[in-house]
Amino acid sequence: MLKMGQASFLCICLGMVCLLSGIWVQAEDPYLYFTWEVTYGTVSPLNAPQRGILINNQFPGPTIDAVTNDNVLVNVINKLDVPFLITWNGIKQRRTPWQDGVLGTQCPIPPNSNWTYKFQVKDQIGTYNYFPSIGMQRVAGGYGAFNVNQRSVISKPYPEPFEEFNVLVSDWYNTDFKILEQRLDQGTPLPLPDGLLINGLPSGQAVFTGEKDKLYKFRISNVGVAVAINFRIQGHTMTLIEVEGAHTLQEIYESLDVHVGQSVTVLVRLHAPMAKDYFIVASSRFTKPILTTTGILKYAGSTTPAAKPLPVGPTYHLHWSMKQARTIRLNLTANAARPNPQGSFHYGTINVMRTIFLTNTAEKVNGKLRYAINSISHVDPPTPLKLADWYNIPGVFKLNSVPDMPTNTTPVLAPGVLAFELHDFVEIIFQNSEYTVQSYHMDGSSFYIAGYGNGPWTPAMRRRYNLADTVPRHTVQVYPVSWTAILVSLDNKGMWNLRSAIWSRRYLGQQLYMRVWNDEKSLFTEADPPPNILLCGLVKKA
Ligand SMILES: *[C@@H]1O[C@H](CO)[C@@H](O)[C@H](O)[C@H]1NC(C)=O
Ligand SMILES: *[C@@H]1O[C@H](CO)[C@@H](O)[C@H](O)[C@H]1NC(C)=O
Repeated sequence: MLKMGQASFLCICLGMVCLLSGIWVQAEDPYLYFTWEVTYGTVSPLNAPQRGILINNQFPGPTIDAVTNDNVLVNVINKLDVPFLITWNGIKQRRTPWQDGVLGTQCPIPPNSNWTYKFQVKDQIGTYNYFPSIGMQRVAGGYGAFNVNQRSVISKPYPEPFEEFNVLVSDWYNTDFKILEQRLDQGTPLPLPDGLLINGLPSGQAVFTGEKDKLYKFRISNVGVAVAINFRIQGHTMTLIEVEGAHTLQEIYESLDVHVGQSVTVLVRLHAPMAKDYFIVASSRFTKPILTTTGILKYAGSTTPAAKPLPVGPTYHLHWSMKQARTIRLNLTANAARPNPQGSFHYGTINVMRTIFLTNTAEKVNGKLRYAINSISHVDPPTPLKLADWYNIPGVFKLNSVPDMPTNTTPVLAPGVLAFELHDFVEIIFQNSEYTVQSYHMDGSSFYIAGYGNGPWTPAMRRRYNLADTVPRHTVQVYPVSWTAILVSLDNKGMWNLRSAIWSRRYLGQQLYMRVWNDEKSLFTEADPPPNILLCGLVKKA
């Protein structure tokens, strides 16, 4: 095992290559190797055969179970007929924007070729997931659970569960992903999905078996593309312990809203007097009609099927949802990936350097529907933004093409970029004047959710911010005709996707990139491009 000092010494001897492997890939942290073959295959999630995207023949794909600071290597073999990338939803990619798996940071893996992702799950714990990032591919599958566990030397702020379960809730269309893409290309919005799935299975088929009186951890992710869900378990309550890498105050919930792209971790004790089967329910929020699916919580040995009625959940109840969201708070004394308490970063006392006000729109441009943020409807240029930035290729994008304030002009199709200095501390207000709920995800960093409110945001709303113990997350909802304010410390150099997690909206432009930059080139803040970097667009020719 190399100690830091020895590693640095070797670096002097051997130069850059060793500096990379000696310090950044930290020889003492374990390596997890995966080889994933991505293929089409037939799946029948709503009981009718359809084309799915499988990883190693599985739908959903394999689970990654990592420990903080593990190095993860995933060799992705693309056997589809389309270019492919996987993004690691919520994995922060510290110093490795090259591995983020979106078209703004890397070239796609062409059909019939393979490419190996290599990154470290640095200083992170929590429940995450991964999915294909290009086009509408993810509606066909290719997604899976990505769990990052505490190192054994770090104590957990909750009792040890007996076992844990992954619960991936997704929505599903009875339409091939390429047809959905064509539909969007023609400017036609997508209808409501045809149904909801739990772990890729039709209603009633996902079974989670546990023993009476034992405690179980449920890692729940909404890996869907369109609808927020409410999650609940018949006859049982859930104790929330973590959201997207932050340990929460351990409040007890009868049901929980999980917006598109979000993850929550709960503990459930199998304390029911009757050792039988109970329904697990996921139903859509803010939709008409309501989509509902079920799974089964089975007490080991039970032969008694779950009995209706299903537990009732909220349907529209916007105020209920906002109120619940505010109860999700940070346990300031608990540790997460590191032994220092989460509350030691006093986000509420840091001066905001810049306020950015982002509004989403849905309107026609040249006769076709486009979604936009501050009138920029993002398009991915053939040269990934990160590569253009690194290799100094002009003309690919403009810094600050997205203005800090809405212009209320006709949307323009262009790469959307907001430029920041490394370590900027910014306030972002998402203002939603549409009648649908929005969901925004940020790569590279977690942000603190300062507040939610109805109607238009005004500076007076700052008095309502939670500046003490809100949770940092990577995905946040913005309610219909409402605002959400976030605070973020941009400590991770790179080119980070800020996107609508509602995938048809992202597909038609509701996304941008946050360029986090400083002029000091240092491997402490950003790794060089990996040796296996894929080239495309203008970089190929350079
Ligand atoms: C492709 O896979 C082979 C092994 O199957 C591996 O040796 C090679 O490094 C991979 N290529 C890339 C670019 O990751
Ligand atoms: C907060 O975390 C501490 C561990 O530091 C734990 O003992 C306590 O129960 C947690 N409190 C709540 C309300 O979750």
